[in-house]
Amino acid sequence: MDIGIDLGTANVLIAVGNKGVVLNEPSVVAFNKKTNEVIAVGNDAYKMIGRTPDHITVVRPLSDGVISDHKMTEKMIMAFIEKVTGKQLFMPNIIMCIPSSITDVESRAVVEAAKIAGARQVYLIEEPVAALMGAGVDISSPNGNMVVDIGGGTTDIAVISMNGVVVKLSMKMAGEKMDKAIVKYVGNRYRVLIGEKTAETAKMAAADVFSPDGSRKVLIKGRHLVRGLPEKIEVNDYDIYEAIIDCVREIIDGAKNVFERTPPELAGDIYRNGIYLTGGGALLYGLDRLMTSELGVKCNIAEDPMSCVAKGTKYAFRNIDKLLDGFEHVSMYK
Ligand SMILES: Nc1ncnc2c1ncn2[C@@H]1O[C@H](COP(=O)(O)OP(=O)(O)OP(=O)(O)O)[C@@H](O)[C@H]1O
Ligand SMILES: [Mg+2]
Repeated sequence: MDIGIDLGTANVLIAVGNKGVVLNEPSVVAFNKKTNEVIAVGNDAYKMIGRTPDHITVVRPLSDGVISDHKMTEKMIMAFIEKVTGKQLFMPNIIMCIPSSITDVESRAVVEAAKIAGARQVYLIEEPVAALMGAGVDISSPNGNMVVDIGGGTTDIAVISMNGVVVKLSMKMAGEKMDKAIVKYVGNRYRVLIGEKTAETAKMAAADVFSPDGSRKVLIKGRHLVRGLPEKIEVNDYDIYEAIIDCVREIIDGAKNVFERTPPELAGDIYRNGIYLTGGGALLYGLDRLMTSELGVKCNIAEDPMSCVAKGTKYAFRNIDKLLDGFEHVSMYK
């Protein structure tokens, strides 16, 4: 049994052999400081955010695309692997996709954690490579493809041809920054303090970054900054547009930058093939149309964009020898 793990800043997905994605939970861990034990990971821990007594901490150990907490990251990985494999004796091979912004030392720590959890061999794969494979693209042919993977902490943009990354860019601008921008905007405009979870809900329900017209709206709750009391307000697509359009523009500029650095033959391929949008951020309402009009190249949301990376690890196992040839985007730890 081989295991593919998409260790995202927002969500962890695990794909197993021919079963596909078997686990999809938020990257959250709850820890008891008195007993030094992990109480819950994933969905169970997510429900505890902001609702715990003093001796319990709930953390997002990979927040903002950096490992803010090594120990917690390790414990979370181990707990997730155990959840999938049970306490069995066999040793799986693991292909893991980790946020591109984390350092060598940090990725070593992640690999160690996977080994402690019982991995025989651990391979690391770059996010855009896995994402493109998971979107169903044959990356081995001499044909250029471009992917824009917008996650929680990072946006990874890359042009890939013949199993190799030709041009790439990783930016710390993605879903979480948009949520923060919404919190700030609602505070300024309506004098209401909302949480980031609420901001994310508003983004999913009421965003329209292409042509806001007031038709998409949502009721959200927060606390009035002056009165201090609970307050319910309605925000619409104009609000969300105002709040996040600068974040979105930054991502589009990133894509332009990569496109400009792409050799002409490959640029021609991309023009024909279109650009693939993956990651949860690909679902931002209107983004595909806005990017298409700004870049002049058709931008398509990949099928099931949030599981592309996890699915891609499955294909990576089949082609591991070929991928290892290049070695720049897949590395192996024994
Ligand atoms: N319908 C939607 N509209 C806008 N944003 C969305 C939607 N659905 C999910 N998202 C956003 O997608 C992000 C999570 O995407 P994803 O699971 O791909 O991230 P990740 O892989 O965990 O992060 P990273 O790749 O940065 O490590 C969150 O910020 C979430 O708010
Ligand atoms: Mg991701």
